[in-house]
Amino acid sequence: MITIDGLSASGKGTVANRVSRELEWNLLDSGLLYRVVAYLASEHNLEYWQEEAIAKLVEQRIRIEYSKTGIQASSLKESRELRDSIVYVLSDSLQHKTVQWNGKDVTSIVRGNEISRGAALVAASRRIRSVLVPKQREQRVEPGLVADGRDMGTVIFPDAQLKIFLEASLETRTKRRMAQLGAANTDESFHRVLQSLKDRDERDSLRDVAPAVPAHDAIQLDSSRLSVQETVDFVMRKARNRGIID
Ligand code: C5P
Repeated sequence: MITIDGLSASGKGTVANRVSRELEWNLLDSGLLYRVVAYLASEHNLEYWQEEAIAKLVEQRIRIEYSKTGIQASSLKESRELRDSIVYVLSDSLQHKTVQWNGKDVTSIVRGNEISRGAALVAASRRIRSVLVPKQREQRVEPGLVADGRDMGTVIFPDAQLKIFLEASLETRTKRRMAQLGAANTDESFHRVLQSLKDRDERDSLRDVAPAVPAHDAIQLDSSRLSVQETVDFVMRKARNRGIID
């Protein structure tokens, strides 16, 4: 079990994806789950403070399915009626993750900036986080799991053999997030993206429940001046040193 935590756009998602591919392990992108929750809440016209109603939706309506070859929501066991009321997070061995709802692929909406804010709001709810705990722990399957998020090493998998907390300067993270969003390279969009990251950093690291802070036994790594491959190599080296892999 390897956890990679960090703030938004610290590069943890990309690094976790590459590491899990190199190891041929399963990958848990926990941020995607919080995004799915925010999306589901808005599709049901719920406000983010309606924790109890949202927690019920999470229990009944979110399924994570993994298959080596890739799966379509349409091929799943449930009746059509039920299928349409469930959000599926589907994954394959190449770590492609898609989100499907009502027979539509909603991945890009769920990954978009609109949902980011909602995700950070639902993520501050202790009640909503608690119903997501078993869904995340269920992803720990043979031969191993790489999990990325904010509280993977502190709350969800405290016994992980290797915990990384990835850091990068706010400026680096802003540029990474802009590239991810395909945002125009202007001062105006730089400041807008920077401000939204700052707001989210504050919310994620100062909240009472599962704040985005390094676990006491995590290795903190600043990736501002490292390429993705250098960061991945660092993680692989640590995993080898600890005897997690050959
Ligand atoms: O990583 P990503 O930006 O997709 O996460 C979206 C939001 O979900 C974060 O801003 C954070 O508030 C929340 N989150 C969390 N705990 C995690 C992963 C994400 O609170 N383990």
